[in-house]
Amino acid sequence: MEKPRADRHPVLNKRAFRNTLLKWFQANAKTYPWRETTNPWSILVSEIMLQQTTVASVMANRRFEKFLEEFPDIETIAAAPEAQILRAWEGLGYYNRVRNLQKSAQAVLRDFDGEFPSDAKTLETLPGIGRYTAGAVSSFAFDRPAPIVDGNIARVLSRLLDCHQEVDSTPGQKIIWEAAAELLDSAKPRLFNSALMELGQTLCTPKSTACLICPVRGFCQTSSPESLPVKKPRKKFVQVDEHAFFWIKKDHLLLSQGHDSRRKGFWKLPLRSPEECSHLEPVSRHRYTITHHKVTLYLYHARPPHLIDGEKFHPISDLADLPIATPIRKILTQKTTELGL
Ligand code: ADE
Repeated sequence: MEKPRADRHPVLNKRAFRNTLLKWFQANAKTYPWRETTNPWSILVSEIMLQQTTVASVMANRRFEKFLEEFPDIETIAAAPEAQILRAWEGLGYYNRVRNLQKSAQAVLRDFDGEFPSDAKTLETLPGIGRYTAGAVSSFAFDRPAPIVDGNIARVLSRLLDCHQEVDSTPGQKIIWEAAAELLDSAKPRLFNSALMELGQTLCTPKSTACLICPVRGFCQTSSPESLPVKKPRKKFVQVDEHAFFWIKKDHLLLSQGHDSRRKGFWKLPLRSPEECSHLEPVSRHRYTITHHKVTLYLYHARPPHLIDGEKFHPISDLADLPIATPIRKILTQKTTELGL
């Protein structure tokens, strides 16, 4: 079978497509705080934050504004202690992203005299900045003609071009990135990239294909938009049981510093093997999902059999200032409230 290629599915008239899309966007664009700025540090923060958290949640909790109030520039974050940056990112998950934000800030200060590079290829050399983020900073902050492909744009383009390749496969990515580059309005990259993304967020969504009111329906080549994009089969969830201790001594709670790479620097409840807990009755059971793990946490009000490395008692009044992952903080809040602490 002949390979579907972007250049075999040309959008008939690129100029008309761009003009139609931009006209729609200029009449319908949503206002977001990161659209009110062209500061590359602010843009980078927004893009990293929005990679793991929905626009609605970032907006509702003013996470973007609050983060920038605490770290208004690269100098401030470059000098901040790790516990402070983790605390500022709490609830957003994927904490290596904020560590990389700090490393990028340090790299810009060290290697680029404190001036963000504007071209995507150079931006990609910074820690944690991939092709998408580099293109986003280059186009949104500097209005340079760099294409971007995120989940929204991949969906829009796969439908527009009727591309049935898996969009998360190497050949699928190649087709979609080439199409994003080919269609890009190089005179108005900032507006064009924002418009394409917004089309995917509002009309051309995973669940709804509002084709009847789509501004670019006349250019769209698919007759089955709801079947696109095609994706690789999903990774299955792994069920894990954890056995955790909630032990208070003189207004101090026993916590353990996580050692696995993703949770490095975070305080958790001390865990023990199921065998070490087999003689105990849990006081409560908590379920939460973290990346592809479905965790069932059994909680014991008891002193753990023995203390192990990295475990320490913390004053309960200090809990608010410690970096603690959201599901664990919820459990701690519930328990300390229940016990009137
Ligand atoms: N999601 C990720 N980046 C975004 C942006 N710049 N505008 C709106 N939504 C986004």
